[in-house]
Amino acid sequence: MNTDKNRVFKPEKLFAPRDFQSPQIKPNQYLEIGTGKGMHAMQFAQANPDKHLIAIERTRVKFDVFAARTAELELNNLLPIHADAIPWIVHGIPPGSLEGVFLLYPNPEPKNASQRWLNMPFFEFLLSRLKPAAPLVLVTNIEAYAEEAEELAKQLWRLDVERQEVPRDSARTHFEVKYLARGETCHQLNLVKPQGYRTRFDDWTPQNNAQA
Ligand SMILES: C[S@@+](CC[C@H](N)C(=O)[O-])C[C@H]1O[C@@H](n2cnc3c(N)ncnc32)[C@H](O)[C@@H]1O
Repeated sequence: MNTDKNRVFKPEKLFAPRDFQSPQIKPNQYLEIGTGKGMHAMQFAQANPDKHLIAIERTRVKFDVFAARTAELELNNLLPIHADAIPWIVHGIPPGSLEGVFLLYPNPEPKNASQRWLNMPFFEFLLSRLKPAAPLVLVTNIEAYAEEAEELAKQLWRLDVERQEVPRDSARTHFEVKYLARGETCHQLNLVKPQGYRTRFDDWTPQNNAQA
């Protein structure tokens, strides 16, 4: 486990993605990172017309499928974004503005622990974008990934953690359907900032940190 607290995220080093357009953040705003072909994103938007979801996917082929289906459904509460989530979030999401974040079956990065979401210094920045008490939902089929994430959430990030097994009839994403059909156990962590939680990025925006 990486517990090097000296590795601090440096948002000022990240340029806005090419053709970046600043999103209009809604009062009831959710974010999904690594949405794949967008199954959960579209289901969520259809089931929750009062909520807004930004869903980001960086792989072009998957994103194109997602964007085409979203256009057919004419969902006005779902914004599909083709980008690397990290610079896009730095430039697009203000502090304390999200009601929830979904990280559903992220790449496990077996050979590169530093690329797992809770191991990245960026994770602190992501936490700063959540409203107080808003959940970050992380789901994985890999028990060791869930164990590591739970440990990091508690010990490094000092979050409140609720862990549950995904019901066997759940079908939120393509990967979830695949893993449950194979009889695998999927693990869900609901992570919440305790009351009074502070990050180093709570006041950070690209505007107030622009170089003179
Ligand atoms: C294992 S797939 C899961 C897809 C979907 N959530 C599902 O469960 O079916 C992980 C996805 O995250 C995307 N991804 C990984 N890192 C990303 C990043 N930094 N920004 C945007 N997407 C990312 C990958 O392209 C991939 O499509």
